[in-house]
Amino acid sequence: MHDIIRQLDEKRAAARLGGGQRRIDAQHKKGKLTARERIELLLDPDSFEEWDMFKEHRCNDFGMGDQLIPGDGVVTGYGTINGRLVFVFSQDFTVFGGALSEAHAEKICKIMDHAMKVGAPVIGLNDSGGARIQEGVASLGGYADVFQRNVMASGVVPQISMIMGPCAGGAVYSPAMTDFIFMVKDSSYMFVTGPEVVKTVTHEEVTAEELGGAVTHSSKSGVADLAFENDVEALNMLRRLMNFLPSNNREKPPVEKTNDPADRLDFSLDTLVPDNANKPYDMKELIIKMVDDCNFFEIQPDYAKNIVIGFARMDGHPVGIVANQPLVLAGCLDIKSSIKAARFVRFCDAFNIPVVTLVDVPGFMPGTAQEYGGIIKHGAKLLYAYAECTVPKVTVITRKAYGGAYDVMSSKHLRGDVNLAWPSAEIAVMGPKGAVEIIFREEKNDPAKLAAREAEYKAKFANPFVAGARGFIDDVIMPHETRKRICRSLAMLRDKKLENPWRKHGNIPL
Ligand code: HXC
Repeated sequence: MHDIIRQLDEKRAAARLGGGQRRIDAQHKKGKLTARERIELLLDPDSFEEWDMFKEHRCNDFGMGDQLIPGDGVVTGYGTINGRLVFVFSQDFTVFGGALSEAHAEKICKIMDHAMKVGAPVIGLNDSGGARIQEGVASLGGYADVFQRNVMASGVVPQISMIMGPCAGGAVYSPAMTDFIFMVKDSSYMFVTGPEVVKTVTHEEVTAEELGGAVTHSSKSGVADLAFENDVEALNMLRRLMNFLPSNNREKPPVEKTNDPADRLDFSLDTLVPDNANKPYDMKELIIKMVDDCNFFEIQPDYAKNIVIGFARMDGHPVGIVANQPLVLAGCLDIKSSIKAARFVRFCDAFNIPVVTLVDVPGFMPGTAQEYGGIIKHGAKLLYAYAECTVPKVTVITRKAYGGAYDVMSSKHLRGDVNLAWPSAEIAVMGPKGAVEIIFREEKNDPAKLAAREAEYKAKFANPFVAGARGFIDDVIMPHETRKRICRSLAMLRDKKLENPWRKHGNIPL
């Protein structure tokens, strides 16, 4: 008995030491925390229950038989974040560079299977050199087993990936199938093939940071949702994100008491929209002023800035916010912003989070770059996402709602539940100037006549009343009462029930 306990202590100590003090020091020197330190920061104190601490790989090739480290490069188990259950795996770079072996994959799969059974989120802290090279196809199989579970868990439990070191080859595809990806600046990167391969194949010279660093993925590719300065900040923000999410798709998101009154008025909003229709303003000001305690958790703030997405609470209940941003590209919808918002709307829909949409959109972005890039197909993603969405949908049109973009942005026609407009709303096929230049083309050499036509068009459509007369807008509200009206609408919709017809799955234009 004593012997077993001694062995147990030794094995635990060996597992905790991972690849050894030298490698732990090297990890710290790079500004990175170890796998276990990360788990401690992520979870509530003393809540972590570790599994498979003694699991070892089964590879005997290339001298691997002599290199058995208990735990095999990944720490797995469950614990709580603000008292709510989550499952977590944290790859240990000090053990074979966090590379994924068959056994390592089995550990990840085990916690994923349990997370699915009990309906709890899966958080992956990734720090890995990819497939364990010594294991060959066994390791590739392990990756595929994880991928399959990622797909089965998609839309069932939230899956969040934190990239906290290298993430190459197969290692990127599991995070890619999760709901959110956070990265740490200067110490993490993601790419399908590294700089060396890129140089050989395309003759491009590029650093790892330029090719797949946190800034690249959070601002250029859109692969990552947020980039943070260091491990500590990233883990703290991940805890904050989890507060908005339900544990699974059968639960409602967690309500938090607030001292911010649901009927709070904000008169400064009455002057937010400038008199000149071509002058921009910051839509984030409206978001901050209307949500509980000015607390807005923005997702992808540095990517496709012409649309703003993120989580907040209204009267204590989580909401997903989608808002055109007139400050960037006049708030036009283009390929990137359509995809960004579509994915977010689908996440909210999958996890019972109501969607609040703030509209000021002059239309889809014109041009060859957009057309050749497939704006038709990509813009349709957002249309599809809103149309398919069955959670409560509340829409406020602050200014422009032109053309197809009017339809797309959670309009009444796409089953918007409550559609409100500010007095400054203009709902039309296009802006007055463009409209008269087309319908009165023969008058183009008569500026006075054209100006009169423009004024006539403006009087007719540059207001919310034509849409209101048709019931496409439920009410015209004063900007200062926006929070109150949205909170009331959401309260009215709390028990909304709406189901789409049975099908195996739809065919979203990918
Ligand atoms: C086994 C690995 C490994 C791997 C790193 N190590 N990657 N062991 N399999 N894939 C080991 C190293 O031998 C080293 O061991 C330790 O981890 C740390 O690695 P270093 O190279 O010293 O660290 P660093 O300089 O920080 O570079 C990290 C790295 C680099 C960028 C990740 O190691 C690297 O490029 N590794 C190979 C990446 C790769 O090609 N992976 C396979 C991708 S293909 P010691 O004992 O010295 O500490 C793939 C296919 C899956 O994943 C496809 C599924 C669809």
